[in-house]
Amino acid sequence: MDKMGDLRRTHYSDEINVGLVGQTITVAGSIAKSRDLGGVIFADLRDTAGIIQLSFGDGTDKAVFEKAASLRAEYVVMAQGTLQKRESVNKALPTGEVELFVTDLRLLSGAETPPFEIRDDLHVKDELRLKYRYLDLRRENLHNALVLRSRIAACVREFYLNQRFVEVETPVLIKSTPEGARDYLVPSRVQPGRFYALPQSPQLYKQILMLSGFDKYFQIARCFRDEDLRADRQPEFTQIDMEMSFADEVDVQTVNENLVKEVFSKVLGIDVPTPFLRMPYSEAMERFGSDKPDTRFGLELCNVSDVVKNSEFGVFANAIAAGGSVRLINAKGLADTLSRKEIDRLTETAKTYGAKGLAYLRLTADAETSSYEKFLSDDEKAALRTAAGAETGDVLLLVADADDVVFAALGALRQEIAKKQGLIPEGTFNFLWVTDFPLFEYSEEDGRFVAKHHPFTMPKEEDLDLVETNPGACRAKAYDMVVNGMELGGGSIRINDPVLQARMFKALGFTEEAARQNFGFLMDAYHYGAPPHGGMAFGFDRMVMLMLGKDSIRDVIAFPKVQNAGELMTGCPDLVEEKQLKELSIESLAKPEQTE
Ligand code: AMO
Ligand code: AMP
Repeated sequence: MDKMGDLRRTHYSDEINVGLVGQTITVAGSIAKSRDLGGVIFADLRDTAGIIQLSFGDGTDKAVFEKAASLRAEYVVMAQGTLQKRESVNKALPTGEVELFVTDLRLLSGAETPPFEIRDDLHVKDELRLKYRYLDLRRENLHNALVLRSRIAACVREFYLNQRFVEVETPVLIKSTPEGARDYLVPSRVQPGRFYALPQSPQLYKQILMLSGFDKYFQIARCFRDEDLRADRQPEFTQIDMEMSFADEVDVQTVNENLVKEVFSKVLGIDVPTPFLRMPYSEAMERFGSDKPDTRFGLELCNVSDVVKNSEFGVFANAIAAGGSVRLINAKGLADTLSRKEIDRLTETAKTYGAKGLAYLRLTADAETSSYEKFLSDDEKAALRTAAGAETGDVLLLVADADDVVFAALGALRQEIAKKQGLIPEGTFNFLWVTDFPLFEYSEEDGRFVAKHHPFTMPKEEDLDLVETNPGACRAKAYDMVVNGMELGGGSIRINDPVLQARMFKALGFTEEAARQNFGFLMDAYHYGAPPHGGMAFGFDRMVMLMLGKDSIRDVIAFPKVQNAGELMTGCPDLVEEKQLKELSIESLAKPEQTE
């Protein structure tokens, strides 16, 4: 192997162009591929910015030529030479008009044949990619995603700093508090039997910072939640977290839609129109069956409970009598594509969301078939068609159940039909705010109301009395930023009145002692003067994923975790020494399988 010596890079590949022809240039990187054509050798050198072709041939020093002949993929080299025009231009490469005629080649590291070729257009199994993440990260797509992620983060910082937000780091070893997702716990060695939690978000600290007088705070913060993974969820993820004083809902929303506008404009050159549409939660549910509606396509829900409430058909009438509803989607013009078989498939989807069935009416040009043909009167059938605006060519899909089941099932069907039928326009970003969320939701599991957002969320002024009298109907000063059916961020105005906060804990079923035990510091803090304040947090990984058009959050995270929350490259979580456990006063109940 050679030494770098005093050779230093003069140019990255994206700084090289025809204007530099004739100049002496030094580049550094890895060999992407090399071709030995006998008398001439061409090698593609890959650096962080792209590719530049190295060439060796007539006039190349013999020793350099021999070294060039030994080049293999992934060898690490530096090369100095004269930039010259290429004989055959490669239009696919930004540097395709030029090449470096090499006079000095240093082989700095050899490389074994990698387990997969470093190429974007090659499908490699996820497990293999993640095990060899250091090779996977050499692939252009993933590499560029992380470079852009860093630029987006810089843009975010610049935006907030320009508006007098202060970046403050908050601790990662914190107190475990109830509510929210499951905590990751860290045992204390110094205080045996006691545990820290890793933060699910910096929520309480940023509220404290407001009453400590920082006025406006932001942080690009790592968060940890021990919950099941999904395509847009990781146990360890990053938030753009912010909070501001003397602000109400619209103030927080305005700052953050302007952030999105600026970042999209600077990084992607896309203009995002502001202000975003604002839609109350109740409307989002009624129209789209979801609190994160994808508004890029129609297929809106239609409530037909009034039409069928007196029907003889038990499935419909009983659902309504029990306080539920009958709603439908009119899949306009899809009668020919939504065959019986396809409707059966949709029924299965509806069932996974708790629906007991899916009723339908299919209006093809020559037949009208429905699953409720025998159960509804002619008048009811006609009224149903009118209510749904049904015409020949349409399919109606109906669910009768409790509202939450109806919404979940039809909301999911909407999404599935739109995806399958290609109803979703590419390249559009439909941002909106979903506002006025319920303050509480009833948890069957806990047998009580739990906070829909978190326990520090301010109720709507007009709903203050409902905290005790009718929690289910109480609305919150809480909002989510939604885009293309994804929750990009969420936040709220916070309770800054200790008396109201105590009422809130009570409504959540905390005894006074339990509230003090868990949140005493916060309740005390609010006794010493607190400005009105509120904020929100974006899922930063989700934002990057959205901006780069990726389907999986893993494609924008350098070292992501997989389904079982493991990280395949280093192999964690892993067993630890008995001695370490002893020091932490921990005795393991589970006997994990020994892995090699
Ligand atoms: P929330 O829990 O809604 O609010 O989280 C804010 C945003 O973080 C993203 N997010 C995730 N991204 C990846 N993987 C996960 N497991 C994950 N969980 C959440 C989502 C979500 O919208 N402290 C409050 C914010 C506030 O009130 O200011 C909070 O954490 O995009
Ligand atoms: P059944 O009376 O169970 O034979 O159902 C008659 C039709 O109503 C079938 O097409 C079922 O799929 C449909 N159906 C059953 N339960 C529901 C429900 N909860 N919502 C909508 N349709 C249903």
